[in-house]
Amino acid sequence: MEHARVSPAPTGAGPFSYPGAAPEAHDLPLHRDHRHLLGLEGLDREEILALLDAAEAYRARLRAGGMPFEDLRGLTVLLGFFEDSTRTRVSFELAARHLGATVTTLTTAGSAISKGESLFDTVQNIRAMGVDLVVVRHVASGAPYFLAANLDVGVVNAGDGRHEHPTQGLLDMMTLRDAWQGRFEGRRLALVGDIAHSRVARSAIHGLRALGASVTVVGPHTLLPAEIERLGCTLAATVEEAMDGADAVMALRLQRERMDAGLLPSLGEFSRVWGITPERVRLLNRDAVVLHPGPMNRGVEVTPEVADSERSVILQQVENGVALRCAVLARCAAARAARGGRARREVA
Ligand code: CP
Repeated sequence: MEHARVSPAPTGAGPFSYPGAAPEAHDLPLHRDHRHLLGLEGLDREEILALLDAAEAYRARLRAGGMPFEDLRGLTVLLGFFEDSTRTRVSFELAARHLGATVTTLTTAGSAISKGESLFDTVQNIRAMGVDLVVVRHVASGAPYFLAANLDVGVVNAGDGRHEHPTQGLLDMMTLRDAWQGRFEGRRLALVGDIAHSRVARSAIHGLRALGASVTVVGPHTLLPAEIERLGCTLAATVEEAMDGADAVMALRLQRERMDAGLLPSLGEFSRVWGITPERVRLLNRDAVVLHPGPMNRGVEVTPEVADSERSVILQQVENGVALRCAVLARCAAARAARGGRARREVA
């Protein structure tokens, strides 16, 4: 195995983030390397639609049964989840197993990271054991970029800090494509709640803009990042204004683990002013749908009546997550094989 050459860990907002201003999409060469999926920023419409088409094909295969498939047979996938997760971790694990990969999972608790080993050394050691693809969730924005830049391994971002959650963005678009009969142009999504801490919001904004849909964001001033309109979305003053005539609404989880104290007066106040209620859902277009990336604080971001209503596509998002992650893993593995990495082993 080629020895990794460590480029300096950049400094900035987090230990792995880019120094200085965020780079423009055209300055992100790792985005062009299909061995990795690091973010949706910079992906063009064709790339996104190709992934959604592949995910739809996997969904049909998964619904028909007959797993495991052979797409990743002979490859090893490491799930490095250094921050808690249910949906993303389980769906990546199911996707990799459905495709015939060998899968191993590493979390902070129970690994040498809890003894002080760095993320880089940990993943480099795992790489030496023959891992082909690393799926990483990390509290630090930029951690997946750091691994992709420094290790000879395909890297998929499963959520990094406040930065991006590209597979969530893609599964949200897959769900919206179903609801919107395949047409993104002229459609509008309202994103409501804790935008400041949300990597889901950033991926949704980048992806939907590339596909020709528009995004309106709204939330408490304390939970709106200053630069949010620079991402190309519109800011609304009230949840009613954001939802009026929208084709979908996505409530974002209040990320209390990332918040400083004092950003919110109370959960009751948040729910009263910003919660997705049946009355507010009536402001949406007639065939509009309600999304939530999970985990959901029932009765805070969305009332139970809405979460369990016919408008809710929250569990469709979860189902789509498995198929979408099959498509992403298969794309990264194929690109890695094309670059001379280990291809899937042909079975007799
Ligand atoms: N949507 C999402 O990322 O959920 P998990 O944190 O459970 O993976």
